[in-house]
Amino acid sequence: MKVTVVGAGAVGASCAEYIAIKDFASEVVLLDIKEGYAEGKAMDLMQCASLNGFDTKITGITNDYSKTADSDICVITSGIPRKPGMTREELIGINAGIVKSVSSSLIEHSPNTIIIVVSNPMDTMTYLVHKSTNLPKNRIIGMGGALDSARFKYRLAEALEAPISDVDGMVIGGHSDTGMVPLTSHATRNSIKVSEFLSEDRLNQVKEDTKVGGATLTKLLGTSAWYAPGAAVSGLVQAIACDQKKMFPCSTLLEGEYGLSDLCIGVPVVLGRNGIERIVNIELSDAEKAHMQQSAEGVKKTNGLLEF
Ligand code: 2OP
Repeated sequence: MKVTVVGAGAVGASCAEYIAIKDFASEVVLLDIKEGYAEGKAMDLMQCASLNGFDTKITGITNDYSKTADSDICVITSGIPRKPGMTREELIGINAGIVKSVSSSLIEHSPNTIIIVVSNPMDTMTYLVHKSTNLPKNRIIGMGGALDSARFKYRLAEALEAPISDVDGMVIGGHSDTGMVPLTSHATRNSIKVSEFLSEDRLNQVKEDTKVGGATLTKLLGTSAWYAPGAAVSGLVQAIACDQKKMFPCSTLLEGEYGLSDLCIGVPVVLGRNGIERIVNIELSDAEKAHMQQSAEGVKKTNGLLEF
């Protein structure tokens, strides 16, 4: 199993580290445009192999896509992260060109690969990969909902004063400060609806804190987060690599599902060896349906800024 991660910045390197520690891939290629940067990160990570007990081989390369050839899965993290006060959508001007060029170079050397898009604005970047490549839609996946769901569970556990392992919840919709749809109607503590434990006001606070989870960290860190994004995308990679048939909220091209078409947005999907094995239709409350519709309008507005 060969995985390529493009972008050896904090998110890409964290992703590579988590993949290596889980030890399900034979090889991870870490690629960056900055001379020597990916090579250095890869060497540093490989010097953890005996300490963290993995045999995965991590190699770094500077901008030579021939070394990514025949990758089963390619993760695109390249592009600029946001600064405090910025929205993810403001990154489109720079990141769209990078993502288009990177995806084309990856597919040239790995025509059968599955691409996972992390670069922001992620839903629009995922849509761009669809429009600029001829990969089948099951092999283009946007990572946002898995991260947002992890932040949702963190906030739910905080409100419930419960261990996170007791909590389950999912965030669908756009990966944006206003477009996320935390599914409080489905969230549970040990199979019991969280609304049995938390007031509507407290649940609304959990939803709002979840939506700005990324912005909260960017304000604290001065740049985008990296540990949870890296961990979230490594979970998607593992589900595909190990054909786990696990369900995650991922950004995928909709063609009528959830009453939406011609955009990529976060919905529950089953991930396996073929990438997106299927989209899962779930019941949404009227409020969640309305929020999803609004979210889709926001994503389509950002898509409208793309120049093909
Ligand atoms: C985040 O929410 C980077 O979009 C990513 O942290």
